[in-house]
Order: sequence, then structure tokens, then C-alpha cells
Amino acid sequence: MPTCKELCGNLSSRTLRWVVTGGAGFIGSHLVESLLSLGQKVTVLDNFLSGRESNVEEARKLSTGRDPSFRLLKGDIRDMEQCREACHGADIVLHHAALVSVPRSFQEPHLNNSCNITGFLNMLTAARDEGVRSFVYASSAAVYGHQPEGPTGEDAPLSPLSPYAVAKRTDELYASVLSGGMRTTGLRYMNVFGPRQDPSSPYSGVISIWSRCLMDGEPPVIYGDGKTTRDFVYVGDVVQANLLAALSDLRSGDDENIFNIGTGRPVSLEKAFLAMSGAIESLCPGWKGKEPVHEPERMGDIRYSLADISRARELLGYEPRYSLEEGLVLTIKSFMNSRM
Ligand SMILES: NC(=O)c1ccc[n+]([C@@H]2O[C@H](COP(=O)([O-])OP(=O)(O)OC[C@H]3O[C@@H](n4cnc5c(N)ncnc54)[C@H](O)[C@@H]3O)[C@@H](O)[C@H]2O)c1
Repeated sequence: MPTCKELCGNLSSRTLRWVVTGGAGFIGSHLVESLLSLGQKVTVLDNFLSGRESNVEEARKLSTGRDPSFRLLKGDIRDMEQCREACHGADIVLHHAALVSVPRSFQEPHLNNSCNITGFLNMLTAARDEGVRSFVYASSAAVYGHQPEGPTGEDAPLSPLSPYAVAKRTDELYASVLSGGMRTTGLRYMNVFGPRQDPSSPYSGVISIWSRCLMDGEPPVIYGDGKTTRDFVYVGDVVQANLLAALSDLRSGDDENIFNIGTGRPVSLEKAFLAMSGAIESLCPGWKGKEPVHEPERMGDIRYSLADISRARELLGYEPRYSLEEGLVLTIKSFMNSRM
């Protein structure tokens, strides 16, 4: 099985056309950056619901000329015409646009439904009808709901506990019946972290929220007793998973085209906090941060979350490369730079 390095090496001799929806967001902007650095042509479709202009500032410098390397379509996946326009002539779609907040999916279930189900369906069918070869989409570990302690494989019972999770599961089911021969791959991300993650996101961005608190001299909040575990995966590994999924020779319409993307390493919130303080100290010797405060667990919080990544290892050749500590240093460095 070719490694990510080999697949990316092959890309230097062939330029493919990629669409990244949600490319102005956290994960999407890292995908865009990596693809452009590999000499690929990239179109972003984003309505800036949570995405930021600054995330695509560098890429926009490449949007000149008749057939530019980068195209930004400010548009909405809820609009079928805009989805078609984005997919026209494309080889590969990496679908990442979504309303990402779980609390907001409870407050605004119709918005969740229109972006995360109808928008998904629009992109899936537009890509299929425009002859796209490979459609990779962001699903989520949220589809599992509460799980016992220990690694969760893709075949574990599913129990979506929020409108957001219901939408992600619905998307997987639509992809399995509507691909029409186009290869589709769903990536169930665990807790992704890294540079450019928005610290205002109340659910998935605990590391970015803590970074902001610690830098601002505020005590970070740990909900619960700190023993809650997460599988924190650095965004660089998520980029790797997308490239492997997009370029690997998976069979189309296969039931097994859904993969957990994490590290397979459980980290308690307590430990993550200590690792984070250690990372800041290594960058700013003598730094003394505030101790965390504990607050009661929030409704719907999941106690344990840990991916079994053997399927991704076996069928995609995915291997997480970043330790939590390395990822934290890169994240905090970037956070500090953004504030200078
Ligand atoms: N960050 C995580 O830990 C995590 C975990 C599991 C799954 N995911 C999934 O990964 C994907 C990317 O998440 P992220 O963390 O980068 O979030 P993000 O909020 O930074 O990015 C989402 C992007 O989608 C855009 N968008 C939203 N609605 C849109 C619409 N209707 N039309 C066009 N663009 C729209 C936003 O403006 C934003 O740029 C999402 O599908 C999310 O559900 C993320």
C-alpha cells in the first residue's frame, strides 16, 4: 500500500482539481494550504458562517490569472447551483463545510438540518453528477454517543445524541446509497486540534479555549472531575487522512468506506491540561499559568472517547505522526504569533 509520502510525491507530476468546502474554516484551511503546497488546484466554497478571511489570506495570493491555483467561491452549500459551480471540472471533493457547534444544533435544529443534511446532499449529488472521482467528507465521532471505556471501532453501536450527530450519521447513510459509482469516504474525526481553531467554539475546541484562557491569565474550566478522556488528534494527521482517503484505491460504495480518525491514545482532560502547561512553559520559560477550575459536567458531555484506528491503518495506511506534546507546541506557537 502506498504511503502518504508516496501518494503526495506522485501528485507533483499531476495536477488535480480539488474542491474544499468549508475551506475558510479550521480544518479546511489546513487542507487548502497542504494541497497548494503540493502544486494542486483548489476551489473553496465557504459562506463564512464560522470561517475567517484571514484563514485563506495566503491562498488568495494565488488566485490570479486565467486558470488560477486557488479560487474562492463565497457561497453556500444550501444552494445547489453554487455546489454545481464548485464541482464543475473537479476531480476530488473534500467536504468540510458544516455548522459545527453541538449546542447550536440544539438551539437551531433547522439550520443544522439545512447545512449539515441538505447542504451535504447538495454537495454529494452535485459532485456525482459533475463526474467527480472521489468524495471525502467529514463525519464525526459524535455518531457513537456514549461508549464504554476502551477503543471504539467503526462497527460499534451508534447512538447520536444531538441534532449535529444525527446529521453526520444521516450523511453517512446518504453517501452509501447515492454515490452512483463515485468513491465516497467518510472520516469520523475525534477531537481535532491545531492552529487556527476558533477559541470561541464551546464544544470541540477545548485546547484552543484553554490556550486563550492561559494566555489571557484566566483560569481554564475543566467540566467534571478531569478524568473524562478524549482522543486528541492534531490537524496535520487529519490532513494526512484526507489525502490518503482521496488518493487511495478504495472500492466504491463499500460499506467499509468509513474510518475513525484519531490517534488511538486516550488522554484525560487533567493530563491534557498538564501537557498544555508544559508546552507553554517550554516556549516561555518562567511562565506561571492559572490553575484550572472544575465545574459540573455539561448535559450531553461524553465520558470516554477513544478511536480504534486499525481500519484506517489497514486500508488507508494512516499512521498518526504527531504526539500530543508536539501538536500542542505547534498550536500554542501559532496562537502566540497570531496575537503579536
Ligand atoms: N474540529 C473537530 O474536532 C471536528 C470533529 C469532528 C468533525 N468535525 C467536522 O469537520 C468539519 C470541519 O470542522 P472545523 O472544526 O474546521 O469547523 P469550522 O467551523 O472551522 O469550519 C466549518 C466551515 O464551514 C463553513 N460553512 C458552514 N456552513 C456553511 C454553508 N452552509 N455553506 C458554505 N460553508 C459553510 C464555515 O464558514 C467554516 O468555514 C466539519 O464538517 C465538522 O463537523 C470537526
